[in-house]
Amino acid sequence: MNKVLVLGGYGNFGQTICLLLAQDADIRLLIGGRDGARAADFAASFDNKVTGIAIDAQAVDLAGRLQNLGVDTLIQTAGPFQGQNYAVAEACINARCNYIDLADGRDFVDGISSLDARANAAGVLVTSGASSVPALTSAVVDHFLSEFKELHEIRHGISAGGHTPGLATMQGVLGYCGKPFLRLENGEWVTTYGWQDLHRYRYAAPVGSRWLGSCDVPDLEIFPKRYPDVRSVVFHAGVGNPVSHLSTWAISGLVRVGLLNSLAPLAPAFRRVNRWLEPVSPDVSAVHVEMRGIGLDGKAHSRIWQLIAFDNHGPQIPCGAAVALARKLAAGKVGVKGAGPCVGLLTLEEYLGALAHLHIKQVML
Ligand SMILES: NC(=O)c1ccc[n+]([C@@H]2O[C@H](COP(=O)([O-])OP(=O)(O)OC[C@H]3O[C@@H](n4cnc5c(N)ncnc54)[C@H](OP(=O)(O)O)[C@@H]3O)[C@@H](O)[C@H]2O)c1
Repeated sequence: MNKVLVLGGYGNFGQTICLLLAQDADIRLLIGGRDGARAADFAASFDNKVTGIAIDAQAVDLAGRLQNLGVDTLIQTAGPFQGQNYAVAEACINARCNYIDLADGRDFVDGISSLDARANAAGVLVTSGASSVPALTSAVVDHFLSEFKELHEIRHGISAGGHTPGLATMQGVLGYCGKPFLRLENGEWVTTYGWQDLHRYRYAAPVGSRWLGSCDVPDLEIFPKRYPDVRSVVFHAGVGNPVSHLSTWAISGLVRVGLLNSLAPLAPAFRRVNRWLEPVSPDVSAVHVEMRGIGLDGKAHSRIWQLIAFDNHGPQIPCGAAVALARKLAAGKVGVKGAGPCVGLLTLEEYLGALAHLHIKQVML
C-alpha cells in the first residue's frame, strides 16, 4: 500500500483528487487540512482505507508528522502559492517522501528547481505545477513537438465555465490582476498586465467566442527555456460569463492605474458574486494551445489543439496531473528524482487518462 496525503484534501481541487485516488486499490489515502472535523467528515464518505487528519502546512514539525504518518507522496493543494516559501516541499525532502503541488505561481513553480540537489540526495521527486499549467499545457506541446523542425510560437489559454473556483485559486488569480509582468513576444520580453489585453477568442462549437485576458502563469517563464526556438509564449484566460469577465477586467484596470493596490482581498466577495451568476453561466469550458513554426518539410506549419469540457466537468481538469503522477509513483513507474516544474513527467495520454470519466473532447485543427 502506498500512502498518499492530500493537503487541502477537502478543498475544491483536493476533493476531486481524493475522489479519484480513493478508487485505487494500492493507495491508502489521508485527507488533510487545518479543520480535522471537515477532513474526518469527508473521509467518512469513503471506505476505511481513507482517513481524515488535522494538519497544518505551516507547522514547524511537519517533516516529523509526515515521517510518523509514513507518507510516501504528499499532494499540496493549499494555495495560493504566489509568495509562499518551499517549507512544505522541504519537509517532504526531510521526511523522504515525494512532493507534488498544484501551484500556478510563476516564480514559485520555476524556483522549485532550487531544491533539486536536496531532493536528489533524499531520493525523492519534488515537482511543482502539477495541474493545467504547466503540466497539461507542456504535455500538449511535447505531444506535437515532433511535427515541427522549429517551434516559434506558443499561444494558449483557458476559458472557464460558470463553476465558482475555490478561494485559493481566486486569491492567486486576483493577486496579479492589473499588475505588470513580462512575456516573450517576437523574441523580446514585453510588459503586459493581469486580466488586461482584452480580446475575443473563438473555440470550437459549442463553446464559441469567449472573452480572454492576460494571465501570469509559470509557462511564460518555463516554456522559453524548455523550447529553445520559441520566440513568443503568450497565455490568456477568462471566464465564460461575460458580465463576470468584463467586470473583473474593469476592476483590474483600477489596480493598473494605481487606484487599488490588489484585488486578492476581494476574493471572498468575487466568489459570492460568481455563485449568484452560476445559474446564468455556461457549463462548458475549454483549453487551447496554438503552436506555430517550421514543419519537417521546411514550410510554415501550425497546430491548434483544444480541449472542450461539458456538463461543468472543466474544473476537474486541473486535477489530472496530480492524480496521474501519484498513481505512477505508487506503481513505481517514475524513474526521475530531484526537483523541478511538472514538465516532461506525464504524457498527454497519461494526463487525460486520469480524466477518462469526464465528458471532455479533444479537437485538433
Ligand atoms: N497550476 C494550475 O493550472 C492551477 C489551476 C487552478 C488552480 N491551481 C491551484 O490550486 C490551488 C488549490 O485551489 P482550490 O480551488 O482547491 O483552493 P481551495 O478550495 O481554497 O482549497 C484549499 C485547501 O487548502 C486548505 N488549506 C489552506 N491552508 C492550509 C494550511 N496551512 N494547511 C493545510 N491545509 C490548508 C484549505 O482548508 P483549511 O483552510 O480548512 O485548512 C482548503 O481545503 C490554488 O492555490 C491554485 O494555485 C492551479
